[in-house]
Amino acid sequence: MTAPLLTEIDHVAIAVNDLDDAVAYYHDTFGCTVEHREVVESDGVEEVLLKVADSYVQLLMPIRDDSPVAKYLANKGEGLHHVGYRVDDCAVALASVKEHGHRVIDEAPRPGSRGTTVAFVHPKTAFGTLIELVQE
Ligand code: CO
Repeated sequence: MTAPLLTEIDHVAIAVNDLDDAVAYYHDTFGCTVEHREVVESDGVEEVLLKVADSYVQLLMPIRDDSPVAKYLANKGEGLHHVGYRVDDCAVALASVKEHGHRVIDEAPRPGSRGTTVAFVHPKTAFGTLIELVQE
């Protein structure tokens, strides 16, 4: 086996109804501070990144009703939304998913937040976990 394609946990993403409430919770309870805040128009979300060691907690709040995160909140409520893994090459990792016969959400890598390149892997064939491949 060659080196693993997943090199680190980039972030754990949590869907929330109110970003400021969630930021206050992590700040007041655990002393976490906001490292990055960005509206990602293409995904219909506003996100906050809280640094935890070399990884992030990513808080996600929908900015419109047709955003996938809005649908997630409506169906399942607040909670764990996806896990982002760092990869050296998003295209290579995505190709491996397809080569192994597993489903993807993004057919090709696309721009993510912070200038990253990302692709989502379908939870249906990934043990119920929505996976995001993140290339910095
Ligand atoms: Co993410």
